[in-house]
Amino acid sequence: MLGKDDFIISDALNHASIIDGARLSKAKILVFRHKDMAHAEEQLASVKNEPGKKLLITDGVFSMDGDIGPLPALCDLAEKYGAIMMVDDAHASGVLGRNGRGTVDHFKMHGRVDIQVGTLSKAIGALGGYVCGTRDLIDFLYHRARPFLFSTSHPPSVAATCIAAFDLLEQEPERMEKLWENTHFWKKELGLLGFDIGGKTTPASETPITPIIIGDGKLTMDFSQELFKEGVLGTGIAFPTVPEGKARIRTIMTATHTKEELEKALEVLKTVGRRMGILTN
Ligand SMILES: Cc1ncc(COP(=O)(O)O)c(C=O)c1O
Repeated sequence: MLGKDDFIISDALNHASIIDGARLSKAKILVFRHKDMAHAEEQLASVKNEPGKKLLITDGVFSMDGDIGPLPALCDLAEKYGAIMMVDDAHASGVLGRNGRGTVDHFKMHGRVDIQVGTLSKAIGALGGYVCGTRDLIDFLYHRARPFLFSTSHPPSVAATCIAAFDLLEQEPERMEKLWENTHFWKKELGLLGFDIGGKTTPASETPITPIIIGDGKLTMDFSQELFKEGVLGTGIAFPTVPEGKARIRTIMTATHTKEELEKALEVLKTVGRRMGILTN
């Protein structure tokens, strides 16, 4: 959609796939500080008089910290500066909005986001992705999106899995309710145990993605391994996936976790956390 004479204005914590896609487009990339709307506006204003297209892009839910992109303010800016508005809802699909429609629905931004993309590999539980936009945009992509044109389509089993997942989202909203119930419980209990779950030196999570910030990369990876030995899968994430000194265990809730499982996981986190000096209380 964009070329070398165009501009992409991108949040500093946008996902690697956005960064790589932006680079592949050859457009000029202007990065704004995470969710800093004044800085985003500064970047847009700096290219206001340039003839190229402008595209303003954000994650719907930021994948490492779990905070939500400020869609209403970004839509205002996109409209003010005539930019194309795009959101990557990889972690919002199946989680936010009615029946998991994502951030556009969550913020009631219908008609104000030009391109909503997402993956089918997170809450949907399969593989692949989607693009929502006008009929013209989709027809354009059918003919011009090289990764789509020149790669094999999904096998029918994957397509069927995705369709079944969308049916479940429509027909069994109680699953999403359970996801959020688990999420609130998990965040509250982790906080009570004394873990840093974001909001101090990192953005505060607002979604089921709940990081346990440790800081040191090696300690984080060792913690992750010890947890695994005790039956808890908590993936360690360190530099360069997250900034140096902000290593973390990235936990996430699902709709199918039971209270007993969560309580058991909390007990393991507490015991191992104390043993390793991560919890000092
Ligand atoms: C925000 C975001 N966009 C895109 C992707 C890529 O998803 P997939 O691996 O399904 O292509 C991810 C996956 O981690 C993500 O977090």
